[in-house]
Amino acid sequence: MLTQQKIIHALKDVEDPELHKSVVELNMVRDVHIEGTHVSLTIVLTIQGCPLKAKIKQDVETAIQALGATAVTLQFGSMTDEERKQLTASLKKENTTSEGMPTMLREDSGVTFIAVTSGKGGVGKSTVTINLAAALARQGKRVGIVDADIYGYSIPTMMKITEKPTMIDQMAVPVTKEGVKVMSMGFFSKDNQPVMWRGPMLNKWIRNFLVNTHWGDLDYLLLDLPPGTGDVAIDVAAMIPQAKEIIVTTPHNAASHVASRAGVMARHTKHEILGVVENMAFYETSDGERNYLFGKDGGSALAGALATEVIAQIPFAQPEENTGSSVYDEDSVVGEAFTHLAEDIIHIN
Ligand SMILES: Nc1ncnc2c1ncn2[C@@H]1O[C@H](COP(=O)(O)OP(=O)(O)OP(=O)(O)O)[C@@H](O)[C@H]1O
Ligand SMILES: [Mg+2]
Repeated sequence: MLTQQKIIHALKDVEDPELHKSVVELNMVRDVHIEGTHVSLTIVLTIQGCPLKAKIKQDVETAIQALGATAVTLQFGSMTDEERKQLTASLKKENTTSEGMPTMLREDSGVTFIAVTSGKGGVGKSTVTINLAAALARQGKRVGIVDADIYGYSIPTMMKITEKPTMIDQMAVPVTKEGVKVMSMGFFSKDNQPVMWRGPMLNKWIRNFLVNTHWGDLDYLLLDLPPGTGDVAIDVAAMIPQAKEIIVTTPHNAASHVASRAGVMARHTKHEILGVVENMAFYETSDGERNYLFGKDGGSALAGALATEVIAQIPFAQPEENTGSSVYDEDSVVGEAFTHLAEDIIHIN
């Protein structure tokens, strides 16, 4: 026989497709009525016009039919402002420790932070960030990107993200692309105007992105940093001392990186360096011959100076034509290089 209890129990397995939490836990199930084998109920949505309504409807119906119901009448409602506030307060509480620290930063959070840095601009940090993230996701890892280049954010454009994060009260649900959860200041700027925050606001911004974002469980959080040793790099170092660093260079820019890198190291020696990624390292012709356009030793010289290793050499190549995305195809030479890098990183972390 169908009972309220059985129905609620079955709905515990139905997740809100955005928050990835049970609709029961999120307090979205209301007015369950049973008449014989006919069940009617209301699901209150976190936001109005939730685009994933159809998915919820199907999952709820399937779960209740599996109990033997012959008809399910489902109505949708939406949470009141008060209910939404309560929900985000509880999500935010989960994201914050009793000391007020982002939960993610706890040693036992299971999240590996990887900051992608460089001494100079334009060497391919963002390219490395998004392609490494996509490669980690292809390996089944749960991956997020924080576009920490807050003045010169480029991740949304480079990944061809046109959506904005869903906002539930003050809580942002990151946009998922290539299997990766993405947050960027670019989502919040008006008409792509640059962001003009300085000093203390910056630190708050990083915190906000850790605490007021519903990341769910992550294995890796990649941070795409602006070039050099500015405020953001210093704040990230202070806020996330456990982050590991990947330093991106091109062969011809390596020398200039040593000096600027030394500056950061003098101030913050905490970040462990995973290694150097030498980007645009060579050009491979169609018959597999490698041309080293900018010399051969830049990456290894930088790695030597920093007492680390070159962990990847990424060839010079265009991403797939016509897509406009800077994420390289899995089967391309560059895509494969990132797959190897992802495998190595998974192996050591
Ligand atoms: N391996 C590559 N082959 C060809 N083009 C590349 C490669 N890597 C990066 N690029 C191109 O070089 C330009 C700079 O790359 P990217 O934006 O990733 O660098 P960045 O270090 O993040 O720059 P910024 O310092 O401005 O943030 C982009 O147009 C990108 O598409
Ligand atoms: Mg960049």
